[in-house]
Amino acid sequence: MKNFELVPCANAGELARAAASAWLDEIEAANRAVKPYFAALSGGRIAPAFFASTVGQARARAVRFDRVQFFWADERCVPPGDAESNFRLARELLLAPLGIPESQIHRVRGEAPPEIAAAGAEAEIRRIVPLNDARQPALDLVLLGLGEDGHVASLFPGEPEEGMSSQAVYRAITNSPKPPPDRVTLGYAAIAAAQRAWVLVSGAGKEKALRDSLAGSGKMPFARVLKLRNRTTIFTDITRL
Ligand code: 6PG
Repeated sequence: MKNFELVPCANAGELARAAASAWLDEIEAANRAVKPYFAALSGGRIAPAFFASTVGQARARAVRFDRVQFFWADERCVPPGDAESNFRLARELLLAPLGIPESQIHRVRGEAPPEIAAAGAEAEIRRIVPLNDARQPALDLVLLGLGEDGHVASLFPGEPEEGMSSQAVYRAITNSPKPPPDRVTLGYAAIAAAQRAWVLVSGAGKEKALRDSLAGSGKMPFARVLKLRNRTTIFTDITRL
């Protein structure tokens, strides 16, 4: 039984458009059901196109975001106005253009030391998002990118089993191989607990990481996420898999 769904896209622009369209479908369904919608965002090179397409399509479809609560899959430990901040990227390209009020935005306080920022983010997400039987937040959607080394969020290869098995919702990372080194990330358990996990994978450089992770053989973080979840959706413009 395959535990992933591949959504083939012609190129990065098409990938951004398809993922944005699917996300808006999910938000409209939550609106029809009069339910809150909890989403966690990532950064990365595909994020700007994804955010821009979401804004454009949301305006064209008149999608309401007043039930959406915004969290982050990971954040760099930098001030919120820093060029490296995932919050800043989302605020500029998604949240401000959509007019999302502060009350619906739950950023990781990257200006604080990683352990402090992680504890604060965990307290907030636990306060707002209903917890599942494993006491993990049942986010409706975690949006992820994929690194060339198979990382997702800020979960990188080569960490000890103790870290990977942590049940902490948010973890402090102080040795990220992808700069900056200090980050906060959702843990594997929180990503596994999300109703949906969508991974946006664009660019030939990701081909090996994606192929190895899908093969289930590798020890890459994304391979671990796939094994932990019943279903993961992958939007990709990589054709040779
Ligand atoms: C981050 C991101 C990270 C990103 C991947 C892919 O904070 O860096 O959340 O998980 O999504 O590294 O990024 P690229 O598309 O830029 O390789």
